[in-house]
Amino acid sequence: MPEDRAIETHDLSKNYGDRLAVDRLNLTVASKQVHGFLGPNGAGKSTTIKMMVGLLRPTTGSLSILGQGVRGDNPKVRRKIGYMPELPRFPKHLSGEELLDVYGRMYGMSKTERQGRIPELIKMVGLEGRGKDRIGKYSKGMQQRIGIAQALISDPELVILDEPSIGLDPVGMVEVRNMVKDIVKSGTTVFFSSHLLAEVQQVCDHVTVIHLGVMRYSGTLEDISSKVMARRRIVIELEKPVDGVLAALKTMKFATVEANVNTYTLHLDTREDVRAEVSRAVTGAGGVILRMQEEGGGLEDAFLSLVGKEGMA
Ligand SMILES: Nc1ncnc2c1ncn2[C@@H]1O[C@H](COP(=O)(O)OP(=O)(O)OP(=O)(O)O)[C@@H](O)[C@H]1O
Ligand SMILES: [Mg+2]
Repeated sequence: MPEDRAIETHDLSKNYGDRLAVDRLNLTVASKQVHGFLGPNGAGKSTTIKMMVGLLRPTTGSLSILGQGVRGDNPKVRRKIGYMPELPRFPKHLSGEELLDVYGRMYGMSKTERQGRIPELIKMVGLEGRGKDRIGKYSKGMQQRIGIAQALISDPELVILDEPSIGLDPVGMVEVRNMVKDIVKSGTTVFFSSHLLAEVQQVCDHVTVIHLGVMRYSGTLEDISSKVMARRRIVIELEKPVDGVLAALKTMKFATVEANVNTYTLHLDTREDVRAEVSRAVTGAGGVILRMQEEGGGLEDAFLSLVGKEGMA
């Protein structure tokens, strides 16, 4: 497998009894990418991630992480990846620093390495001055932060975070985003799941959308809105209904038209700006336009068309 692939899955599937949670997923994450794994609740994100980190075995299919095939736990690979599980819970009696020390030892880091790395991480995740407090005294947001620090302790090549900003307030979410950006700057590949398009949009260069276990899109953020027919439409309100306007609009090849009294909706299948042409056609047929508005076409629409409105919480 080429060096530049951090994650590669081949027809990766997972069944829980009769339930197919992940269905023949073919996913590639290039090294140094920041890749968002986006999908509504129950889409199969955590199941996929658990297979990546060796906590679950695939039912069928295979996957490679950092060039190594994964079947269950693989200590060689485990050392090179950092993982933050969904809603991590840590022993309450340990301080943040002690927790990181335990994880550092598990990764086989020397005392000197740990002593260097731990204060750095505490600072990076914004827990400066709180590293000696017990985790039992941490807020939810602070627990997420220590979870992120834990995932970074071994200076991994690949960091996999399962919903790192869930349960955080808007300020906390922005801070997590900034942390992810910092991790990426240091040359680490980041793969993180989220059900929030806005979050993925702000930090990722690549995105994979999963819904009901099936991959619906994988590629760059830029491409997602242009490759997907993003349900762009033009809504026109006329002063009053005019015979002939509907007929004139129906001759336009780039749209299908819906009429409702004096409001006309054109569902576009072009990415061109056709407002001038539409306006001329309406006016030419004797209509007086009170309002013309373009709707849809954004990333949000692209996402909704991939997962269906019912997919969004
Ligand atoms: N241990 C399990 N046993 C049985 N079914 C499970 C188990 N874990 C997950 N599932 C089912 O598999 C499907 C995918 O779940 P998964 O947790 O992977 O989704 P998710 O995308 O992480 O969702 P969320 O955003 O809610 O965390 C769901 O239908 C879920 O009910
Ligand atoms: Mg999950």
